[in-house]
This record gives sequence, structure tokens and C-alpha cells, in this order.
Amino acid sequence: MRLNAYLARAGVASRRGADELIKAGRVTVNGEPGQLNTFVQSRDRVAVDGEPVALQKLTYLLLHKPAGVVTTARDPQRRPTVVELVPAEPRVVPVGRLDAYTTGALLLTNDGQLAHRLAHPRYGVEKTYEATVEGKPDDVALQALRDGIELDDGPTAPARVRRLGPNRIELTIHEGRNHQVRRMLEAVGHPVTRLHRSAYAGLTLEGLEPGQWRELEPSEVDQLRRSE
Ligand code: URA
Repeated sequence: MRLNAYLARAGVASRRGADELIKAGRVTVNGEPGQLNTFVQSRDRVAVDGEPVALQKLTYLLLHKPAGVVTTARDPQRRPTVVELVPAEPRVVPVGRLDAYTTGALLLTNDGQLAHRLAHPRYGVEKTYEATVEGKPDDVALQALRDGIELDDGPTAPARVRRLGPNRIELTIHEGRNHQVRRMLEAVGHPVTRLHRSAYAGLTLEGLEPGQWRELEPSEVDQLRRSE
């Protein structure tokens, strides 16, 4: 694998952070300075600032993200982040993003390849949201959400939509554009007051209170690989 991916898998830094370390000449491979295009194999000896580093076990965590926590590894405004809610080792990063005030299912992993694929629109991972909204959406609004909504960045793909209560609806989408659900509901005249992701790629939050996390079962990881 490429040197920056190796350093990310070793928990040293994100891939971008790893590139900076490599450019700064702080990384060696078998004693020679590493380059951005260096490829590393398992027998190679990699060191950062002279300290040997090693690959970490691939780890997959499902977090019940609480409100008010940001989906990033580091927040310039020093708000609490999702990575602070899970063990620091091995270092995992969120797959995709939930808004600070969205709660629900969030996957974190150090498997960069799987994370990249799951986050890619081409793979169309299924995400289910429960939204509480202003007003009482009628059948016309629900049908418009199903058919697709014209947003600033283009039309949304067809969605599965179900009424959960007078002002609560469930939406299942395969896309993951910024603030997509909030924008879709705003567009039909029903701004979101509360948003919760109840399922991600078939993973639900059963047994997890807000702020709690669990490791995925090997069968669940296999399932994610199959959904790629
Ligand atoms: N759509 C949104 O608007 N916000 C989220 O956090 C996720 C999907």
C-alpha cells in the first residue's frame, strides 16, 4: 500500500497528515527517506522521527452519535468530536458525516479502503432518517420527497418515505449530500426540528444509548463489504 495509507493504518495521522510528515522528511522506509509515491509491503520497516511504526488491527465501530458533537477528527472551534467518544487506539475516523445536531448511527473505522467506498455515491449505501418537522406534511409533500426534489446541487434520487406521525416522517436515501435531508424537507415547506439516523447500511442502533458504541461483528463487516 502507499506510504500515506500505511501511516494512516498505523494510526500515525490521517492520509493528508501523513503526506505532510513525508514531505517534511520525517518518515523513513528501511532507513531511506520515504516519498509520496513510496509503496510499502509488510516486510518493510517504517519509522517516523526514528520511531518504528506498525499496522493496527482493522477496527469497525458503530456509534450512537449524540446531539452537539461534531463529525470530525479535530474541531477548530474545540467542540466535542465523535472520535472523543470512542477509544483513541486504534485510531478510527468517521465514515461520512452527520450534522452537529443530527443524532444516530455513525460508522467509524481505520479501514480507509472500505470507508472510501462506503462514502462514495456510486455504492449508494442505504441510510434511514427519522425527521421531526415543522407543520404537518401532507401526502403531496411525501410524494414529492419520494419522487425527488430539485435542490441547488441538482435533483435528489427517489427516496422511500413513510409517515411516522403527524409531524414525523421516515426517509430512506442512498445519497449523502451535505445537509441533504434538512434541505429536502425545507424544500417541501417543512423545516426539520430534529433529525435522527436510525440505520446505516442495515446497521441499527439496537441496544445503544446516545454516546455508546460497539464493535461490529465479523458478519456485519462482511455484509458491509458485500454492500460495496
Ligand atoms: N441529512 C442532513 O440534513 N443532515 C445529516 O446530518 C444527515 C443527512
